[in-house]
Amino acid sequence: MSIVFSGIQPSGTITLGNYIGAIKQFISLQNQHTCYFCIVNQHAITVPQDPDQLRRNSRKLAALYLAAGLDPEKVTLFIQSEVPAHAQLGWIMQTISYVGELERMTQFKDKSKSQGKSIPAGLLTYPPLMAADVLLYNTEIVPVGDDQAQHMEITRDLAHRFNQRFGTLFTIPKTQLPPTGSRVMSLQNPEKKMSKSDPNQNAYISLLDSPKQIEKKIKKSTTDSGNEIRYDPQNKKGISNLMALYASFTGETFDQIEQKYLEKGYGQFKLDVADVLIEGLKPLQDRYYQLIESSHLDQILSDGAEKANEVATKTLTKVEKAIGLSR
Ligand code: TYM
Repeated sequence: MSIVFSGIQPSGTITLGNYIGAIKQFISLQNQHTCYFCIVNQHAITVPQDPDQLRRNSRKLAALYLAAGLDPEKVTLFIQSEVPAHAQLGWIMQTISYVGELERMTQFKDKSKSQGKSIPAGLLTYPPLMAADVLLYNTEIVPVGDDQAQHMEITRDLAHRFNQRFGTLFTIPKTQLPPTGSRVMSLQNPEKKMSKSDPNQNAYISLLDSPKQIEKKIKKSTTDSGNEIRYDPQNKKGISNLMALYASFTGETFDQIEQKYLEKGYGQFKLDVADVLIEGLKPLQDRYYQLIESSHLDQILSDGAEKANEVATKTLTKVEKAIGLSR
């Protein structure tokens, strides 16, 4: 039994990338481990957000977590800003971070490009807050997609640095990537990862897309000029990405998929990928629309915040004592 922590930003649509890279892992971990899953709204405000939309998106994400199969009896589900220790430890972790190492983060480089000249300082100091999220719970396993691996490396570095300076207090967490789909690619440009902030809506599938939208997006997805269904992420990026989606929803191996589609072309395969996704997402979508309206959701989040506060405050008190922020 290990301690597991992960988070997702409530910044708009939740995509198939989030689902396959992160949420599917959460579902399978919840049965064996002590799990904390967070709606990281303080991370979301590192870029401008509309307040009402942010509130709605946080609630929407909570409903999606549950609709996807997280059981509130088994996991602690909560909103980051309702546990003040995150921001408090985040500040402390900032004071032991170096500007140089933060500037080297790929996500900072990418996201700051789209912010013009006025780059919010929070985009730079994002990783120490993420480190705080993880370290508050003595986390051992952090299930994430591949794009968060670099943030997890800096989390581990900061934890080591703190332990060396102030005595061993933090557990050093391990990153866990999914076996397939650790980097789901854009449907329009398979060189880029699928991202909820992509301005082209055909580039991603939202977990709440209708069957028609899913079918249209898969049909329009970019593939190479060949016609052979073969897993080759170097030379056949588009079709390999669709195979990863198919594999992730059916549990079939790439070999099995190749055998099944030996005599068939891209057209048939795309239709089947769309069907598998539509069928796979239907139960999630049905549960989502029931949950989003229910007050039960608020109760789950309030209980989650209470449980998370208990654990997080204990760690924060130990940290403050270790560094001299106490009487
Ligand atoms: P975020 O909100 O961008 O994404 C949430 C999770 O989804 C994964 N993911 C993907 N996986 C595969 N393919 C993709 N195309 C894809 N796009 C997103 C991400 O890797 C992530 O696991 N910084 C984090 C949120 C965070 C966090 C944490 C995560 C804050 N504190 C503590 C773990 C632990 C983020 O922006 O994820």
